[in-house]
Amino acid sequence: MKGRLIFSAVALMLIALYLKSCFPVGFSYKPFLYFQQNQQMRREMKERHKDLLYFHQTLLRIKEAVPEEVMTYMEVIPMRYMEAPQTLTCKDLMYISGLDFIGSGFTKVVMKGTLLNGKSIALKSVHGEGNDMKQCVQQYGDHSACHRLATYKLQKEIALLQILRHPGVIQLHGQCYVNSAPSDIRVTAMLELGSPLEMIQLLQTPWEERFKICWELVQLLHYLANSPMGSIALLDFQPRQFVLVDGSLKVTDMDDATSEEPTCRQDKDCALAFPAKTFNITCSKTGRCTGSNEKRNLYNAYRFFFTYLLPHTAPTALQPLLQDIMNMTGDLHIGINDTVKAFEDVLHVYKSGMNDSHVHNLHDYTVLKGYRMNGTDGEFRCWPSYNHQGCLLSVHSAAEAAQFCNARPQCRNFIISEQRTWTGRFLTSFTKNSLQLVEDENYSVFVKRSGHSDMQEG
Ligand SMILES: Nc1ncnc2c1ncn2[C@@H]1O[C@H](COP(=O)(O)OP(=O)(O)OP(=O)(O)O)[C@@H](O)[C@H]1O
Ligand SMILES: *[C@@H]1O[C@H](CO)[C@@H](O)[C@H](O)[C@H]1NC(C)=O
Ligand SMILES: *[C@@H]1O[C@H](CO)[C@@H](O)[C@H](O)[C@H]1NC(C)=O
Ligand SMILES: *[C@@H]1O[C@H](CO)[C@@H](O)[C@H](O)[C@H]1NC(C)=O
Ligand SMILES: *[C@@H]1O[C@H](CO)[C@@H](O)[C@H](O)[C@H]1NC(C)=O
Ligand SMILES: *[C@@H]1O[C@H](CO)[C@@H](O)[C@H](O)[C@H]1NC(C)=O
Ligand SMILES: *[C@@H]1O[C@H](CO)[C@@H](O)[C@H](O)[C@H]1NC(C)=O
Repeated sequence: MKGRLIFSAVALMLIALYLKSCFPVGFSYKPFLYFQQNQQMRREMKERHKDLLYFHQTLLRIKEAVPEEVMTYMEVIPMRYMEAPQTLTCKDLMYISGLDFIGSGFTKVVMKGTLLNGKSIALKSVHGEGNDMKQCVQQYGDHSACHRLATYKLQKEIALLQILRHPGVIQLHGQCYVNSAPSDIRVTAMLELGSPLEMIQLLQTPWEERFKICWELVQLLHYLANSPMGSIALLDFQPRQFVLVDGSLKVTDMDDATSEEPTCRQDKDCALAFPAKTFNITCSKTGRCTGSNEKRNLYNAYRFFFTYLLPHTAPTALQPLLQDIMNMTGDLHIGINDTVKAFEDVLHVYKSGMNDSHVHNLHDYTVLKGYRMNGTDGEFRCWPSYNHQGCLLSVHSAAEAAQFCNARPQCRNFIISEQRTWTGRFLTSFTKNSLQLVEDENYSVFVKRSGHSDMQEG
């Protein structure tokens, strides 16, 4: 029995040694050994190295690429295990064109570039002139060690992006590791390209679009609270950590994410402090502030997203439900699971037309099926509208559109299109008089009977 144990231990060591021998140039072994820094720098380097290793092991565990026993012997994960098939590599990076700066933060810089196949992607790397590097160099005076420290953050982010697969997490298309010296690793993450989240711009979009952003955020937070790594908190939670891809919200900055709930000895240690409010969380028997990560994310969603995007110009019928959501999340009376339910309720009521019973409104209108207006003549403005020059809104039914039109003296007609918004509502233009009509099977024009509108068929 004992003999077999020794044998299998030896076998495992051999496998581990074999794995180590296939380290690609991209991974230096125990990189902190190359730096002759003071104690504090070495400690930090070791800490981040250990942290990254944990993320890499988690990733491989999820992918089931390497047997569990082998992983415990590994100090650094061979690159070939990290790569997923059909992802971009350094080779794709060589042929990239049209490089252009898009953004930078404390640690990283992001460029836009075009692949050989014509697709645009985002390239993320360590920001050599960023404040993270600057502060570190000022403190330790070692440029290459500081670069390594910052690179650990990017590597952790890359690992997390691979572990967390959700529509609300930016997609990693590939990664490139290049090293000119054992201590000098240049890492580039190749990501799905997004556009920055402009809150001011979002405030000018229809409520339905703003609700979509909040709903996508809630779904992301539900996933993060129940992720393969446990409950994950985004420690640095601000709109600038998110981008929009095809109108959908995605988190792009994950280097400040943590999968550990804070440790504690007493409830006092778990106080979750925000500028305007502090929440009390109980310290569990195992010495963790259980639930802290989920609460932190949810309150941040409330203060940075919901307060700005949710109540503003919401449909009257939804306002009580939304007020409830604001109240419950603002005081953390509910967790993310109940928040998901509350959003689903809102969505359900919204999709079902908010019990609209305005069919009688339609009696005043003549319907011209298969027509639309030619050009933008006769438009008037309303706010917030899907377009800037006119009044383009979503409606559940012609009856709802008629109700809107009846409440506005300048409105004489509306044109419903077959085109639907993400909730399935119909995009509808509201216009004054003087309509020039053209045939189009995907539209229906509704003209108010009372009063006259100068209609011309073109
Ligand atoms: N995939 C992407 N597509 C488009 N822009 C992006 C993408 N990823 C990041 N950006 C932009 O680049 C900026 C910097 O990226 P990132 O937030 O990852 O860097 P950082 O150094 O961690 O920043 P911070 O100081 O906010 O922590 C972001 O604020 C964002 O506007
Ligand atoms: C949190 O606890 C402190 C004291 O431990 C107390 O003063 C405060 O009122 C509590 N806050 C809430 C929201 O319960
Ligand atoms: C929630 O409602 C209660 C009671 O009306 C109120 O005291 C509290 O301030 C509200 N909280 C938020 C965050 O709106
Ligand atoms: C929340 O929902 C997830 C599944 O959607 C479930 O696994 C988890 O236990 C729920 N959490 C709570 C606190 O109910
Ligand atoms: C809509 O009508 C249904 C059934 O008639 C009712 O149960 C629901 O509470 C109503 N919702 C609103 C928001 O009025
Ligand atoms: C109407 O919509 C359908 C489906 O989107 C499209 O295939 C068709 O070409 C449209 N008709 C016109 C006249 O644009
Ligand atoms: C639409 O309007 C343009 C000019 O605004 C005109 O040239 C064109 O003939 C019109 N089309 C129809 C079908 O009336």
